[in-house]
Amino acid sequence: MISTASAAAHPNIAFIKYWGNRDHKLRIPANGSLSMNLAPLETRTTVSFDTDLKSDQLTLNGEAAGGQALERVSTLLDRIRTLAKINTYARVVSHNSFPTGTGIASSASAFAALTLAGVTSLGLELPEKSLSQLARTGSGSASRSIPGGFVEWEPEGESSYAYSIADPEHWDLVDFITLISEEHKKVISSEGHKLADSSPLQKARVADTPRRLDICRKATLDKDFQAFGEIVEQDSNLMHSVMMTSDPPLYYWQPGTIEVINAVQRWRQEGLPVCFTIDAGPNVHVICPAEAADKIRPKLGSLIDVKSILECTPGGPAWLLEPEISGV
Ligand code: PMV
Repeated sequence: MISTASAAAHPNIAFIKYWGNRDHKLRIPANGSLSMNLAPLETRTTVSFDTDLKSDQLTLNGEAAGGQALERVSTLLDRIRTLAKINTYARVVSHNSFPTGTGIASSASAFAALTLAGVTSLGLELPEKSLSQLARTGSGSASRSIPGGFVEWEPEGESSYAYSIADPEHWDLVDFITLISEEHKKVISSEGHKLADSSPLQKARVADTPRRLDICRKATLDKDFQAFGEIVEQDSNLMHSVMMTSDPPLYYWQPGTIEVINAVQRWRQEGLPVCFTIDAGPNVHVICPAEAADKIRPKLGSLIDVKSILECTPGGPAWLLEPEISGV
């Protein structure tokens, strides 16, 4: 017997970053975070529980996957199996719409889509809060790809989950993801989170997070780009300071990363509303209000180390796909 369902989710970019866990296994974060879903980027996933299977199987972008990737998927499927009180294995087929191996975190969209497809295929109807909690255990940032638009993730307790603070239509922001390097990152986020506490700066960063969250939430709700840009850049710099001072240190930036940071600062001095934020990789997210996008786009294209650019706008929540049109 086979029970199947397909779902999709957008990745997200954190304006106030999640870095470090209080509980690594359950992915209870050291601090709260706030993000925006990124349309049109998406992961589409089909999960089929099949009584003929002898183990879980995973296909990522057309290729069979094993090792750590399959283990993480199986761990999440185990949680879903426990909820549904079954022990049937599943076939998981997943595709990213965005170029893979480009250093764009796909784990958020991947685990959000996997959670929604997995739960639905077994006929479980869970509220958004429970879906976000489940997705969190696969990849912390996946908790923020379940709800839509602008999303905040509460750090508290085992039931830590994310919820929407504003719809995607609330604020017309554009995120130009500038691809500096197509290399796979050397240290994946899951490992990076474990190093955070070895930095003497992490305690201060975590203690100050409620202040940054308050400023960022208010700036987002008020659509105050100046206040928003200042806190987003400070938060990104704080996270990278922790990364660079952990033991061993993590250096994600490359020369091209600095080229984009310098350019963003120059354009701002010239009067353009624009800011940057950087995740666990060298690529820079350059963010501006939609009205400024036509001015920023050609400027980014002229930077030497920018290999390509993905242009994103606020995206909706994770959603179900009709299996016949899922294309996976
Ligand atoms: O969910 P993870 O384990 O891939 O961690 C995400 C970490 C950052 O992208 C660097 C920050 C964030 O809040 O998304």
